[in-house]
Amino acid sequence: MRTTVGIIGAGPAGLLLARLLYRAGIESVVLESRDRGYVERRQRAGILEQGTVDVLRAAGAGERMDREGLRHDGIELRFDRRRHRVDFPALTGGRSVTVYAQTEVCKDLIALQLKEGGPLLFGAEALAVEGAAGDRPRIPFRYQGREAVLECDYAVGCDGFWGVSRQAFPAEVSRVFERTYPYAWLGVLADVAPSHDELVYARHERGFALLSMRSPSVSRLYLQVPAGTEAGRWSDEEIWDELERRFETDDGWRLERGPVTQKSVTPMRSFVHEPMRHGRLFLAGDAAHIVPPTGAKGLNLAVGDVVTLARALVHEKETGSADLLDAYSATCLRRIWQAERFSSDMTALLHRAPDATAFDARLQLARLERIASSRAAETELAEAYTGFPLG
Ligand code: FAD
Ligand code: DHB
Repeated sequence: MRTTVGIIGAGPAGLLLARLLYRAGIESVVLESRDRGYVERRQRAGILEQGTVDVLRAAGAGERMDREGLRHDGIELRFDRRRHRVDFPALTGGRSVTVYAQTEVCKDLIALQLKEGGPLLFGAEALAVEGAAGDRPRIPFRYQGREAVLECDYAVGCDGFWGVSRQAFPAEVSRVFERTYPYAWLGVLADVAPSHDELVYARHERGFALLSMRSPSVSRLYLQVPAGTEAGRWSDEEIWDELERRFETDDGWRLERGPVTQKSVTPMRSFVHEPMRHGRLFLAGDAAHIVPPTGAKGLNLAVGDVVTLARALVHEKETGSADLLDAYSATCLRRIWQAERFSSDMTALLHRAPDATAFDARLQLARLERIASSRAAETELAEAYTGFPLG
């Protein structure tokens, strides 16, 4: 099998890249190890930055998002039994975010790709990337019980944190920057209308809690739990009780309960692999970087990477110049490190570390007070949350 761009992974990064290339008349093949149902149901991100929304629309993938996505003009910070709303448009010159789940973004992109794009093979597991430093990279893969090879001009690893493409970088080229956290998020999906019309980020002595949503009738909620916690160890009632404690305010706000339909634990890490290119192999999305979920940056970063890469591939096709491809890694990394910084700061601001002292707790509260009382501090949060410009 031969193509121009061989894409490993049909998460948001791989699917959107295939879509952008298709629109520009560049051939691609997408290999995805899982089946379609798995990719379409895997519960993950929920928040799209304005820039991500604009990109999906421009790619002709925004129709359902425009109908069903929920525009949010702010978030609430909750601490010390009080609430503070951050008004995004007022602080950023009109920017907002959109609640539209990653599952839905993937469904929309898969449907478009199967209808009019190049091949998208489910159940096709890439085994390696070979010859990245040469002219013609090769991706051996397993499909329907047989081994085959995809030959391409460029290989793109969109295969997430656990994929194979990062391993094709020689050890002397790779630099890894990493931090793990002693806590994780227990996430639940519940069939109940969200108890607030915007997201609530709560800092509490017992740990962080987040109220989010998937639709006007489905809530998405997260609780900070110790790293290594098994989701099954928490009964539904214990989860609701704990959420209630952490969201409690002095003004009588109430958390509505409902049937829990899904429960899972997400470990938290910060991770960056530099560079994001080796010869004709490029990394994009979680394959190259991970942020802790506080601040909702992961999917948006993946979108930024593939927009930058698609632009560079189109530029090369139209002008013969590899300038933008050569700049790809550095261009993406500037934005990625800003998101790493923001996600790490938001995590530290809102979570309780197991070894936190009373002094640390007071500092957290002082930082939150500062955001609630200084337009400059609040603007910093609003600008970062609504998104950094594409490089
Ligand atoms: P992935 O979505 O991981 O896709 C990689 C794909 O590659 C997968 O489909 C995988 O099956 C496939 N693959 C792997 N290995 C191979 C192989 N060898 N061969 C073929 N295919 C392979 N981000 C946000 O922006 N906002 C949020 O609100 C947010 N919330 C989150 C909440 C949770 C609980 C979690 C876990 C993450 C959240 N994120 C959020 C992060 C976001 O989900 C990820 O950053 C995003 O999925 C990255 O997309 P990707 O395409 O790079 O990788
Ligand atoms: C969601 C996830 C996040 O990490 C976040 O910061 C906000 C919302 C969500 O899944 O809805």
